Amino acid sequence: MTHDDLRTSVFEVAARSLLAAAALVMLAGCEARTQPGDPLPGLTKAQRALFDEGRQAFEREFEPETGLGPLFNAPSCGECHEDPVAGGVGDEVERHATAVRPDGMCDALETKGGPVLQVHVTPALHDALGIDEEPVTPGATATGLRTTPDLFGLGLLDAVPEVDILAYADPDDRDGDGVSGRPNRFADGRLGRFGRKAFVPTLREFNDGAFLFEQGITNPGVPREESIAGVPVPPGVDPVPDPEIDRHTLEAVDAFVRLLAPPMPARRSLTIQRGERAFRTTGCAACHVPKLRVVMPAGTPVRRHVEAWTDLLLHDMGTDLADICLGLATPSEFRTAPLMGLRLRTSFLHDGRAKTIEEAVRLHGGEGSGARARFDALKPRDKKVILEFLGSR
Ligand code: HEC
Ligand code: HEC
Repeated sequence: MTHDDLRTSVFEVAARSLLAAAALVMLAGCEARTQPGDPLPGLTKAQRALFDEGRQAFEREFEPETGLGPLFNAPSCGECHEDPVAGGVGDEVERHATAVRPDGMCDALETKGGPVLQVHVTPALHDALGIDEEPVTPGATATGLRTTPDLFGLGLLDAVPEVDILAYADPDDRDGDGVSGRPNRFADGRLGRFGRKAFVPTLREFNDGAFLFEQGITNPGVPREESIAGVPVPPGVDPVPDPEIDRHTLEAVDAFVRLLAPPMPARRSLTIQRGERAFRTTGCAACHVPKLRVVMPAGTPVRRHVEAWTDLLLHDMGTDLADICLGLATPSEFRTAPLMGLRLRTSFLHDGRAKTIEEAVRLHGGEGSGARARFDALKPRDKKVILEFLGSR
């Protein structure tokens, strides 16, 4: 080999490895960019068919003749979770009611028609009881407003192992950072994670329950109509035999919700990366944990992590935000809001009282006051990059 030959081959090797590296970068960057409403990439044909069928059932408008009511908030899931597509956010704000009992325990008032209040009734119920909506649950000690969140990526939150969530809990604030965090538990003791108070343990139970509580559709998961603020449904008012939908429909809707891909953040510009670092150094990540491990059920696309920016735990956010109790959650405790899909939202916090992301941060009290104070003390430039980072999610 001459000197020149050697030089050429060194060049070639270098060029080839550069090409290989570039190809790898492209491959990584090519990870399918999903749009809101798309399923997780990699579904089998059968899963895709069930997902599509589930979306149809999600958008199906029920009538009293097909099971709607007698109490309901909307005729379809898609009526509320609709923006920009089925599974998205919605402008419906509903009211929930519960009671703190004299012994300090929380009563979700399930036998009295709680905790979700329905604002519509079927004509038959109107004729029988002369009401236009469900009266506030008797015995309620507080009510709270809830905006309609998007459901993108919730299947991944369902697949976060319990041990990982529990590992973030620090109920007695042993590390002294002013942030504790504790798990909510369902009535039977299981760890809760869905809903603003993290009360419901599994996505499937939330979906099944939504059919009953939002649409008055009984199903194999929750087979009986609720009472009307404690009064049983008058005879003849709800003629469709229970359950009003079958197990297959429930499974399809569950597959649709479960397989919705998480929202894709905007591309990570340098500003966004600076914002992410500032978010962490300001202490926001103490609750908004950037990434959680995921163990997907067998047969679903493999995912190892979800970048949900939540610990799925309850935090005391101070008296200004407080409303109802639920399970172990006191009125002022809320689940750390996942910071996924913030770009798709037009209002923030559980009741939508914050109209901008910055306002939402300003309203962090209780365990969140330390982080809020640090945020307030930041230079305008650093605040701006944090807000830009959040707005890119
Ligand atoms: C009337 C409007 C409305 C309808 C109809 C509705 N939802 Fe919801 N949904 C909401 C609201 C409001 C919340 C927030 C509840 C809370 O925070 O406690 C919610 C929360 C959820 C959540 C939990 C989200 C989370 O972050 O933990 C799931 C899952 C869900 N809905 C699925 C459904 C399904 C499936 C249907 C149809 C069977 C449905 N919803 C029908 C308004 C609605
Ligand atoms: C002590 C835990 C904790 C800390 C620290 C914390 N947050 Fe939060 N954050 C929450 C909880 C809980 C909510 C939900 C409150 C509600 O719904 O009323 C929330 C909600 C939000 C929301 C609104 C999301 C939505 O969809 O409505 C934003 C934005 C947010 N936090 C950003 C931040 C930023 C920025 C910081 C740091 C300055 C921060 N958070 C620090 C617990 C925390």
